[in-house]
Amino acid sequence: MWRVKSLDAILATAEKKSLHRSLGPVQLTLLGIGAIIGTGIFVLTAAASQKAGPGMSVSFIIAGAVCAVAALCYSELAAMAPVSGSAYTYTYAVMGELLAWCVGWALILEYAVAASAVSVGWSGYVLGLIENALGFDFPDLLSAGPVWAMNGMMPVPDFSAGIINVPAIVVALLVTCLLMIGTTESARVNAVLVVIKIAALTAFIALTLPVVNAANFTPFAPNGLFGSSSGMGIVGAAASIFFAYVGFDAVSTAAEETKNPQRNVPIGLIGSLAICTLFYLLVAIGAVGAIGAQPVVGAAGEAVQPGSAAFVAACALAENTNKLVCSNEALAHVLREINWPGVGNALGLAAMLALPSVILMMIYGQTRIFFVMARDGLLPEGLTKIHPKWKTPYIVTAFTGIAVAIAAALFPVGQLADISNSGTLFAFFMVSIAVLVLRRKDPTRKRPFRMPLVWVFAPLSAFGCAFLFWNLPHDAKMVLPIWGGIGLVVYFLYGYRKSHLGRGLIEVHETDSDAPPPPVPPIS
Ligand code: ALA
Repeated sequence: MWRVKSLDAILATAEKKSLHRSLGPVQLTLLGIGAIIGTGIFVLTAAASQKAGPGMSVSFIIAGAVCAVAALCYSELAAMAPVSGSAYTYTYAVMGELLAWCVGWALILEYAVAASAVSVGWSGYVLGLIENALGFDFPDLLSAGPVWAMNGMMPVPDFSAGIINVPAIVVALLVTCLLMIGTTESARVNAVLVVIKIAALTAFIALTLPVVNAANFTPFAPNGLFGSSSGMGIVGAAASIFFAYVGFDAVSTAAEETKNPQRNVPIGLIGSLAICTLFYLLVAIGAVGAIGAQPVVGAAGEAVQPGSAAFVAACALAENTNKLVCSNEALAHVLREINWPGVGNALGLAAMLALPSVILMMIYGQTRIFFVMARDGLLPEGLTKIHPKWKTPYIVTAFTGIAVAIAAALFPVGQLADISNSGTLFAFFMVSIAVLVLRRKDPTRKRPFRMPLVWVFAPLSAFGCAFLFWNLPHDAKMVLPIWGGIGLVVYFLYGYRKSHLGRGLIEVHETDSDAPPPPVPPIS
């Protein structure tokens, strides 16, 4: 189980595939921004302010800083091994099959659960539009899943505020159908959606910054730096809002199709992150400054977790319904509150149009990870079956889409984002360690991009990921070991025996019959 798949074998595979290298730095950066900007900034700004108060701009900086050092680690590995599979593949090459399996298994949390989170975020915006622009009152019980509380180790649902999130199911299944029949975004569609998202955020910044009221920033950190309970405070908000940055690693998966990857992959990774960080900071300052971001409190004046039953009750009080922290469509809500209802609705429309592309990226990313793992023999090869007409891996796509829709139907966006973060932080942590191990194990290998100050930044990245993980809410933190435990059982019952590497099978998988479909967005 410690067997490694040699980097040379992986590179030989990539060489055989020899995808056309057509992506330049601008397209790569757009690809990154397309995957990054989504529910995190459009929706979770509300949950972040419930945790941090006005200090959430500091949370954005903390999460952005961790992502920046992680992006450097990704850059080094992606430029050196520009192949599909991302963190899973790097770990297989450096630290062996068992850990690679754990990373692949954790990536299910990153991609599939993130797709569910973005679907729920989309639902919030669509419902807001239906109610504000069309004046139609959608039944509350069908617009949100139940609120969950832990009773010991047992999650218990409370259906009083919602039973099922119908719009989230619809969008998740629609995107799945598109992927199944092979409709993929083109680079051009992605660029248009990026422009829509950037335009919406720019309008938001332009309208909110002039009405910033300094008084709205005090008290700056009502829940303190670390908060009184897990996942609260400025650092707890950083751990949650980390979700807003997830997706930049999509750039690393396109390394194989990049011109001059040693230069352009780092530019794409760091460039997309830097642009998004700047926008996020300005949006956070604008939102807080324009209408304030003080958290709502429970009956005894205590801080309450967003999404909890106490939080739902606090938000139902008349004096709180218009607060930023209670909104399901945070940015549109701010614009309506400062008397720009038309622009608020337009921003809602922009989110409605653009968020499905993030869902698509995430579900696609998930199917690709399953694909690579099945190709290595660690998952059943039946999963990789290609549809004769659509030429897509329809079984794994349908399976993923249905799972995404079920989670989206039943959980609130914040909880899903936190669970997704737990998997992503684990994967980023392993990538940070992999960079260091490889520098030691194979110091002379050609590194087209060498991250600067590796012995400072890579440990910082690993530490930052562990630190954010530690500051996630308790329940989200517990998901990773439980999910990991299930993963280990699956591995020892199946993958350990079936592994192609373990059975001495040479890489023979890059034939037309089982090669993965082209990446999203396909590059012309
Ligand atoms: N970063 C992506 C989003 O915020 C996943 O939706």
